[in-house]
Amino acid sequence: KIFGESGSQIVIEEFLTGPEVSVLSFTDGKTVVPMVSSMDHKRALDGDMGPNTGGMGTVAPNPYYTPEIARECMETIFLPTIHAMQKEGRPFQGCLYFGLMLTPKGPKVIEYNCRFGDPETQVVLPLLKTDLVEIMQAIWEEKLDQLEIQWKDESAACVVMASGGYPKKYTTGLPISGLDENGQIEGCFVYHAGTKLEDGKILTSGGRVLGVTATADSLRNALKTAYAGVEKITFQNAHYRKDIGQRALKALPEL
Ligand code: GLY
Repeated sequence: KIFGESGSQIVIEEFLTGPEVSVLSFTDGKTVVPMVSSMDHKRALDGDMGPNTGGMGTVAPNPYYTPEIARECMETIFLPTIHAMQKEGRPFQGCLYFGLMLTPKGPKVIEYNCRFGDPETQVVLPLLKTDLVEIMQAIWEEKLDQLEIQWKDESAACVVMASGGYPKKYTTGLPISGLDENGQIEGCFVYHAGTKLEDGKILTSGGRVLGVTATADSLRNALKTAYAGVEKITFQNAHYRKDIGQRALKALPEL
């Protein structure tokens, strides 16, 4: 009963296995344009152990999401979803999030969200070449089919630094050291998720505190830079996964 009355009903679902892929997409209700794929790491601890969290880190692109799988997803999931919403008289415009699992029986939808993902966005948007405002305008004007959306030929990695104990009980208000006066680290972009500024000091204020993100010519190099950034930042009981991107690296050819 930790969730009160919502715990009175139990839903039993099929247990699906396989690599997870997050595909955020732009849609104006008629056209759907998938963004660069990404991979979230939902469990709190290394080796995909421990409780589920909002996401402990991400990489993009997701090497399990091959062009062939992308084509299959477009035909069997993305377009049917957009067309079904149109048919119901509820066309959706904006960012549609497809949370997929690549099972032995093919790609399956785990969840839909009508929003960007966190921490997927942290690795997807830095790879976007086209101006996001131009894309938003095309969505608004229902002209997405007339826009060529371009992506950088790079990889991105984000390592989430969380408060010790997250996603269960954790302490906040702890000073964070290692960040510069803009709350950043050289070579990375640090997203502030659970921080606050008090008397000129940056303090923790949530479960997932920082998303330390880097882009590079390869996933290996993006991970190296993001982890080098993480090493420079400290706060009491800081917790982060040491294996972000390891599963993705296994799917890539050895260089
Ligand atoms: N990272 C999972 C989500 O944004 O729902």
